[in-house]
Amino acid sequence: MDVSKKSEFVVVANRLPVDRVTDGDGTASWRRSPGGLVTAIVPVMQRREGAWVGWHGAPDEDLEPFEAEGLSLIPVRLSARDVEHYYEGFSNATLWPLYHDVIAQPVYRRSLWEVYERVNRRFARAAADVAAEGAIVWVQDYQLQLVPQMLRELRPDLRIGFFLHIPFPPMELFQQLPWRRDILYGLLGADLVGFQSRDAASNFVRLCRRFLDLKTQGHEVAIADRVVRADHFPISVDANELITLADDPDVRERAKQIREDLGNPASLLLGVDRLDYTKGIQQRLQAFTELFEDERLKSGDAVFVQVATPSRERVREYRILRDDIEQQVGRANGLHSELGAPIINYMHTSYTRKELVSLYLAADVMVVTPLRDGMNLVAKEYVACRSDLKGALLLSEFAGAARELHRAFLVNPYDIGGTKNRMWEAMHASPAERARRMRSMRKRVIEHDVDLWAKQFLDALEDGH
Ligand code: ADP
Ligand code: G6P
Repeated sequence: MDVSKKSEFVVVANRLPVDRVTDGDGTASWRRSPGGLVTAIVPVMQRREGAWVGWHGAPDEDLEPFEAEGLSLIPVRLSARDVEHYYEGFSNATLWPLYHDVIAQPVYRRSLWEVYERVNRRFARAAADVAAEGAIVWVQDYQLQLVPQMLRELRPDLRIGFFLHIPFPPMELFQQLPWRRDILYGLLGADLVGFQSRDAASNFVRLCRRFLDLKTQGHEVAIADRVVRADHFPISVDANELITLADDPDVRERAKQIREDLGNPASLLLGVDRLDYTKGIQQRLQAFTELFEDERLKSGDAVFVQVATPSRERVREYRILRDDIEQQVGRANGLHSELGAPIINYMHTSYTRKELVSLYLAADVMVVTPLRDGMNLVAKEYVACRSDLKGALLLSEFAGAARELHRAFLVNPYDIGGTKNRMWEAMHASPAERARRMRSMRKRVIEHDVDLWAKQFLDALEDGH
């Protein structure tokens, strides 16, 4: 693969699929970047020739284009100040909470916005440099919402798509954003703007009408001499890869081992998330702990394994969340565990795909209770892995995945009492009921996998040509 040649297909995302990490003695190495965006885009890119423009996760480093996991990667440099203002600041302290129902208070600061604009321009230039004449460029997610317009100015010959992986807020919330018009114009630089849900696409069209005074019709927004289409494309997982992994005898053996190590509890409950306040980790742990307080469970009946990948650790809200969860786990274990048998096993770390699938196979109840989530791939990964039709999924109504996985045990995570009862129900459902629910959910996930998602988006992008 020649990483210096121009590409017909370019993905632009804040993150590259690998992160450069330097350990204590100064040795640098690469590790898979966290989050659902990377999980979804890697298989899509592995099956297509193309270049991936993004940041490699470390500040103040200029890197040449390189190859990893069979992909051609074009690093974009971020200074320590860019990381602070653009990534931690405007992306993750302003947009992230605003787009997730204002669960945390968004920070509105002009200095953050200025750097967001500047860094978006840098990504647009990097994409313009690598794209061949008439190429397709697919811009990803909330960190890069100005890139479509900036890129169109630089390269009107390109076909530009944009996909938002997170929710897009209703007018009443989006209205707060002092730069709301700039963001809308930024997105309208694309030919096709994709969202996870129909509601999100409608929110966007309505906002263009209300704040930009543009003419809209159905899914379409007219701007100058162009028509921009806004539609929904629910993202998914690489079901075949997961099914193959879940079939691996080593993985199955490891799943057994995990259960044994945990004392073969009657029920093993599992949570797997980035450590993020949108994920509802505290609410689910509280619901679980209350089952012990109510004496519906006793030590040995059930164990909760919560795996939480470190995330955005320099953003204030994330630091507070980590402390709160650690305190909550310590308290619950102190009150309800027996010697050597904690009721909650909390791991602040990330795992390999193999280990993750072993955990999915070991778990009787997968607990996915975000307060708001664009999709939530963990829910779909669990379902894809359970070809044995065992296991139950407890799923928040506020996860995008709930629109497709109707047969999950659905909960409102804000309702702790309701969540605890539903958790109990999921733990005690008959094997036949679990199998019925799982069979229907698996059909959906296997038929609508990540390849179909990418194909539908890219076909729609080509169609409008
Ligand atoms: P988000 O994108 O908000 O992090 P998703 O559930 O959509 O949420 O995607 C998370 C992705 O990260 C999934 O592919 C999941 O398997 C992976 N992941 C989450 N936690 C871990 C972990 N502790 N170790 C390894 N991978 C993880
Ligand atoms: C979510 C976002 C992604 C982001 C990921 C991990 O999935 O939609 O854009 O990459 O979280 O977050 P991070 O801040 O570590 O990139």
